[in-house]
Amino acid sequence: MPIGLPVGLNEPYAEMSWLATMRTNGVTMPKFILQVNQTTHTIDAEADMPLLWALRDLLSLVGTKYGCGIGQCGACTVHLAGKSVRSCLLTVKDAEKLPITTIEALAQEQNLHPLQQAWINQDVAQCGYCQTGQIMTAAALLTENPQPTDDDIDQAMAGNYCRCGTYPRIKSAIKEASALISQNIQILVPPEGDLA
Ligand code: FES
Ligand code: FES
Repeated sequence: MPIGLPVGLNEPYAEMSWLATMRTNGVTMPKFILQVNQTTHTIDAEADMPLLWALRDLLSLVGTKYGCGIGQCGACTVHLAGKSVRSCLLTVKDAEKLPITTIEALAQEQNLHPLQQAWINQDVAQCGYCQTGQIMTAAALLTENPQPTDDDIDQAMAGNYCRCGTYPRIKSAIKEASALISQNIQILVPPEGDLA
């Protein structure tokens, strides 16, 4: 077990080191087909590998974050068949062949998601670590309910924790995004560097 890692980080590190050993020893792993961000990937993984590890370590989609690893913080939230799910709790077997969307594909072609624009306008992020999960949960909420009340927002976002306490700005951004959606405003992705 690695020394000095925060509690909760030992397990994934152990998992990945075990995987590396299996590969080095030439052990054949089962193959799974994941449909991520409209691209089909075939991965070698144990059936119970958490989807989060597959996204980050096998597909290099590192926008989705590891927080607690036990379904409590929301940092790992992605969409599975349009619903927000905790990717640390879902196995690759459970997720196989269902459409998965990560933060990397929330913007559609040339358009930012209204939440992304609202997040910029409201200057929501502080350290930023929880923000992927916050945005993915909020995006699923607005898909289901484009005009949420304060209570709807509180209820939907209750499972996403932010150690920096950005909750008021998150709520403001969700309301702003809701207004942008109701006005059907398209937001162009700014040229690289404009967000700095
Ligand atoms: S890392 Fe999945 S809920 Fe915390
Ligand atoms: S912005 Fe730092 S944990 Fe949420």
